[in-house]
Amino acid sequence: MTSVSLKLDGVSKEFNRRLIFRDVSISLQGGDTLAITGRNGSGKSTLVKILCGLLSPTRGTLMYALDGKDIEVDAIKDHIGLVSPYLQMYDEFTGLENLEVLSRIRADRNITGETIAEALKNVGLWDRRNDFVRTYSSGMKQRLKYAFAVLHRPGVLVLDEPTSNLDADGIAMVERCVREQRSHGMLIVATNDADEAIWCSQRVVLGDEKV
Ligand SMILES: Nc1ncnc2c1ncn2[C@@H]1O[C@H](COP(=O)(O)OP(=O)(O)OP(=O)(O)O)[C@@H](O)[C@H]1O
Ligand SMILES: [Mg+2]
Repeated sequence: MTSVSLKLDGVSKEFNRRLIFRDVSISLQGGDTLAITGRNGSGKSTLVKILCGLLSPTRGTLMYALDGKDIEVDAIKDHIGLVSPYLQMYDEFTGLENLEVLSRIRADRNITGETIAEALKNVGLWDRRNDFVRTYSSGMKQRLKYAFAVLHRPGVLVLDEPTSNLDADGIAMVERCVREQRSHGMLIVATNDADEAIWCSQRVVLGDEKV
């Protein structure tokens, strides 16, 4: 099992000179769990994108280590699973094809047809696997994001608005995912929901920042 650690040091983000958050420092090891909270627009999704290497910080540094060896954020991407409202699946592919194509892009040789079938069953989409994603309901799309996010058993699972569009059964599925992730890796959850923040033992609160 690979162990991931991450260190965010004095990170600030500005968009067009507007400060979103300032001086965020976080240090996480293998089994750590972190909730990112704060009001709408406080920068939770922005911080998530920075943590996943999809955006650069304006100031400060982000370093990951894999089994104790420092690596750049680009090299960590294959060890991250992300569920986010900003993530898009391919509408013109079926659910099954999405998982096949996306895991080929990820170039993970451990992903087999069986792994994909199991993932689709776990999120309750097996019966709809051959339907185009454009015909999925919003909750079904959210479930498909989970199937892909945990397919490769990532060292870091990052959830932004984890239960959006999900019914009670879907929320139970997310809670199973969260328990499974805590048993072997790192979990980061960005949320406004206190019931979700308690999945995590550490917390960073993004607030009103005035320059
Ligand atoms: N690409 C961008 N260009 C300019 N401003 C941006 C961009 N992305 C985000 N912002 C701004 O950054 C701020 C933080 O947005 P972000 O989506 O990170 O907030 P959030 O905490 O996730 O909010 P919510 O609770 O609504 O999901 C907002 O003021 C937003 O308008
Ligand atoms: Mg957000």
